[in-house]
Amino acid sequence: MNILVTAAECTPFAKIGGLADVVAALAKHWHALGHNVRIILPKYATIDTDRWEIKPTHIVVSVPMGWWQEYTRVWRGVLPGTDVPVYFLESHDYYDRPGIYGDPEGYADNDRRFLFLSRATFEVASSMDFVPDIIHAHDWHTAFALAFLKSHYRYHPRFARTAGVFTIHNIAYQGQSDPYRVLPLAGFRVEEFHGSWFDHDGVVNMMKTGIMFADKITTVSPTYAREIRWTSAGMGMQPYLNLRGADFLGVLNGADYTEWDPTSDPHIVATYSAESLASKEANKAALLAETVPPHDRIVEVPVIGMVSRLTQQKGIDLLLGCMEQFARSGRARFVILGSGERRYEHALHLLAHRHPTRIILYTGYNSALSHHVIASADYLVMPSLFEPCGLTQIYALRYGTVPIVRATGGLADTVQEYNPVTTEGTGFTFREYSVSAFAHAIERALSYYRHPFHWDRIRRNGMQQDFSAAKSAQQYIDVFRWALEKIGRVV
Ligand code: ADP
Ligand code: GLC
Repeated sequence: MNILVTAAECTPFAKIGGLADVVAALAKHWHALGHNVRIILPKYATIDTDRWEIKPTHIVVSVPMGWWQEYTRVWRGVLPGTDVPVYFLESHDYYDRPGIYGDPEGYADNDRRFLFLSRATFEVASSMDFVPDIIHAHDWHTAFALAFLKSHYRYHPRFARTAGVFTIHNIAYQGQSDPYRVLPLAGFRVEEFHGSWFDHDGVVNMMKTGIMFADKITTVSPTYAREIRWTSAGMGMQPYLNLRGADFLGVLNGADYTEWDPTSDPHIVATYSAESLASKEANKAALLAETVPPHDRIVEVPVIGMVSRLTQQKGIDLLLGCMEQFARSGRARFVILGSGERRYEHALHLLAHRHPTRIILYTGYNSALSHHVIASADYLVMPSLFEPCGLTQIYALRYGTVPIVRATGGLADTVQEYNPVTTEGTGFTFREYSVSAFAHAIERALSYYRHPFHWDRIRRNGMQQDFSAAKSAQQYIDVFRWALEKIGRVV
């Protein structure tokens, strides 16, 4: 199958969150299954072209934006460890700026920046003589590609037999925009806006656009698929998901276990497996040696880790509400790696300042350190308000780091409460979004720490789980076949 992927993020080139990991892992596994994959990304100024050997090509593509043609030079690299081509769109106006989306509010012209990406996807594919069976677009950023596929490119010789699949990674970000601004740029008539597939509450909603125009729609876990279709977690998109209910399903994200493997991870101090869990301790000891003065370096105190964007979604309020009680009593130590909203960074800094040896905080984005923290911690917390899938808990399971999570979205699909009677289960969960429910789950989790039998069992159970991207890649291929059937093709 020829698969054309268009997205705002892809590991290792440009990453804010799990979207990047999933785009890369799927492409890698489709390639391994023998499919022909190409990825289109913006060439953000922050991408290290030397490190990833990304080179300019002679291809300059013209991209229709409203009445005008805009131009982009195409750069080319490959997904590391594969020969999957990745095409980067150079645009001084759109992408030569700090970061990816522009913090904290996002750049005012993000609609236009990503519209350009969505439209250029077709022009770049044409320029390289690629006839995709599938266009796979991710989140609101590239949702308009699905509208283009069914309108401007519907009878285009190269795309007439292409099906469009839209994957929702996070329905909280919908990409809203003024119809008078965006529709003319996208080549649609403003007069036909009201009540159209672009219209939600009187503005253009890119998330809705993707949902309505795609042949098939997926989201990143079965539980999140139910939540956003039937509850307010859908953030206004429920009627559209219901309308498209027959074409909508949840495909659980998978991890790239070649990147996240404690037996060979180059970013950790000591590698280990389920058979040599004692070596995991060397990671914890190293982490403590780096951060805690000798008198308080007690390895017996359990370490609770967190690696996360610092936003309301991630339940940082719950963490702030209960961390101090555990730190003060010396029952646990926290190691947090995060970046995001300033108010959370500030509140965490205050607590870390008060308990410098018990609450260890790194603010910033650091990929190598994320591996070190996950390998070194005894537990990993994710008290998310909502969580479409979540990858960090999947990585933690593989590293024998016991997850403590709120049972929502993909967290509910990947972590089962440990049952001491059956000795089944992989972590600790709670439902109610409250500090006390979270604290209670931490208490429960800590109570097993000094029970070698159960402690060993929980960690082994977790390490045996298989949430590999190989599985989800195969499920997406089924979705793609199903999308092609919908447009009358049998593959
Ligand atoms: P989300 O996409 O909502 O942020 P996920 O759990 O799906 O949540 O993915 C988060 C990804 O980003 C994981 O790979 C995690 O390790 C990584 N990550 C989050 N914050 C940081 C950080 N400060 N430094 C390094 N990696 C981070
Ligand atoms: C989003 C979600 C996260 C998910 C990731 C990858 O960022 O917040 O839960 O794992 O996308 O699909």
